Amino acid sequence: MAKEQVFDSAFSSLDNMSRTAFSLYILQRILSETETTLYHRARSPLQSVPGPWLSKWTSVVLQYHWFRGQRAFYVERLHREYGPVVCLGPNEVAFNSASAAKKIHSYTRPFRKGELYSNVARYDGQDNVFAARDPQVHARLRRLLSGPMSESSLKGVEHVVKAKADLAVDRMVEEMKTRGAADVMQWWMFFSTDVIGELSFGESFRMLEIGKKNQYVEDLEKVALISGLRIGFPTLMKIFSYLPLFRESRNADLRLQRYAIQSIQRYKNIIAADPWNPTPTLFTKLFKAGEEGLSQEEIVNSAEVYIIAGSDTTAHTLTYLIWAVCRDREVKRRLVEEVAGLEEAYTNEDLKRLLYLGQVLDETLRLFCAAPSGLPRDVPDGGCDVDGYWMPGGTTVSTQAYSMHRDTAIFPEPEKFDPLRWENPSKQMRDNSMPFGGGARSCIGVHLAYMELRFATARFFRAFPNANISSLEGFSDEDMEQVIYFLMFPKNKRCLIQAS
Ligand code: HEM
Repeated sequence: MAKEQVFDSAFSSLDNMSRTAFSLYILQRILSETETTLYHRARSPLQSVPGPWLSKWTSVVLQYHWFRGQRAFYVERLHREYGPVVCLGPNEVAFNSASAAKKIHSYTRPFRKGELYSNVARYDGQDNVFAARDPQVHARLRRLLSGPMSESSLKGVEHVVKAKADLAVDRMVEEMKTRGAADVMQWWMFFSTDVIGELSFGESFRMLEIGKKNQYVEDLEKVALISGLRIGFPTLMKIFSYLPLFRESRNADLRLQRYAIQSIQRYKNIIAADPWNPTPTLFTKLFKAGEEGLSQEEIVNSAEVYIIAGSDTTAHTLTYLIWAVCRDREVKRRLVEEVAGLEEAYTNEDLKRLLYLGQVLDETLRLFCAAPSGLPRDVPDGGCDVDGYWMPGGTTVSTQAYSMHRDTAIFPEPEKFDPLRWENPSKQMRDNSMPFGGGARSCIGVHLAYMELRFATARFFRAFPNANISSLEGFSDEDMEQVIYFLMFPKNKRCLIQAS
C-alpha cells in the first residue's frame, strides 16, 4: 500500500465531525492569513530559502499533512526535492544537517522549544520538564530529575526492568500456545507501562499480570495520538472541544491525571508509614518540598510526563526491533547466537558488552525512531545564521530524525535494516543520529530506555530463537507501516510473532 493511502486511512479513522471541523479551520486560516501579513511575508528573508512557493505564503499545506499523520514524510519529500534547507511555512524552516542540529539543539545555548510545546497537557497548568519553554524553569526541573535517571542511579532499579522483561516474555509464551502467535506490540506496551509505572509510583498498574487492555492503557494510547493533534492544532482543539474525538481526549487526560494523583498519594502514605524503608522510586529523594526538591504537584506532573513519554516510545521501538530482526534470517541468527551465550544471571553491564545487540539497537533506533518528526524550536531574538541562511528572531526551525537518519550520503541504502553498518560508525553517522533528540533537551529517559530495550531483546531471543513473523489473522507487513504524528506507531497497532 502506498504511503499516501496509509495516511488517508489514518485520516479517515477520525470521525466525520472532526474532519468537517478541520476543513473549516483550514478555511479560516487561509482567510486570516491572506488578510493580515502578505506585506511582511513578501519582505521576509525566508523568501530566499528553497521550498515550494506556496510555503512562503501559508503553512496550510504543512498543517494538512500534519493532521493526516504525514508531516514527516512530506518534509522528507521536500528535502529530497529542495535540499537540506527547506521553507515549510512563512515562519518555519526545516534543516537536514548535523551542523544545523548542533546549533539548534546545543547543550550550552539551545534554542527555546517552540510555542507548540505550550499545548502539551500540563497538570494544574504547571510546567513540566518536557513542555517547559523557559530555560530557567527547565534547568531547575532537569537538574532535580536527572540524578535518579543517571546510569549509575538506575542500577538500583535494574531488577525491576529485568523481572518485567521476563514476565512479558512468559506471557508471550502463553499467548503463543493458546492463540498460535503473540501480539508483541501489546506485551511491550504492558511491559513499558508497568516499568515506568512502578518506577514512578512504587507500584505498577500490573498490566502484564492482567494481560488485557484496560481504561488506563486505552487512555494512554489515545493521549499519544491526540497529543500530536493538540500540539499541531491547539485552536482547533479548543474551538471544537465538544466533538467526540477531542472530548474523549480531554477525558483521557483528566483520567490519567487522576491516576497519577492517587498513585503518588498512595506512595506518600507508604513513606509516611515506613519512612526508613520505602520501595525506591525515581522520585523518592525528591519529595522534600521547596528549593531542594519537587512539590507534590511537580511530582504528579513529572510522573505523568514520564508515563506518556516513556511507554509508547519504548514499546514501539521494541516492536519494530523484533519485527525487523525476524524478517532477516542472518540478522536473527547472529543475535540469537550472541544472547544465547549469556549466563542466566546476566546484568545490564553484561548486555552492554554484546556488540551485535548494540548494533541492532542502533539500527532500530535509526530506521524506526519513535519520535522521528521535527522538533520545533524558536530562533533567539535578534536572529542568527543557520547553515548559511539568515533566520529572523522568532522563526520556527526544526530538524527531523526521520530525514537525518535517511541521508543517503551517510547511510547508503537507508531503508535497509543493516545492523552491521554500525560496526565502525563514522563521526558523521553519530552526528546525524538523534533518536533521543539533542543537547540540553535530549531525552531524560535514554538510559532507562536502553536498559529496557536490552533486557527485553535478550530475553525475547533467548526464549524464541525460532521466532518468525506470523500471518495469523491476516497479519502482514502492511500492519507495520509507520504512522507519524509527533510519535510514530505501526498503522494497525499490532505485531504478531510466532515461534516453533
Ligand atoms: C526508545 C525510547 C525513547 C525515545 C526514542 C525517546 C525520544 C525522545 C526524544 C526525541 C525527546 C526530545 C523531544 C523534544 O525535543 O521535543 C525526548 C525527550 C524526553 N523523554 Fe524520551 N524517549 C524514549 C524513552 C523515554 C523514557 C523511557 C522516558 C521516561 C522517563 C522518557 C522521558 C522523556 C522526557 C521527560 C523528555 C523531555 C526532556 C527535556 O526536555 O528535558 N523518554 N525523548
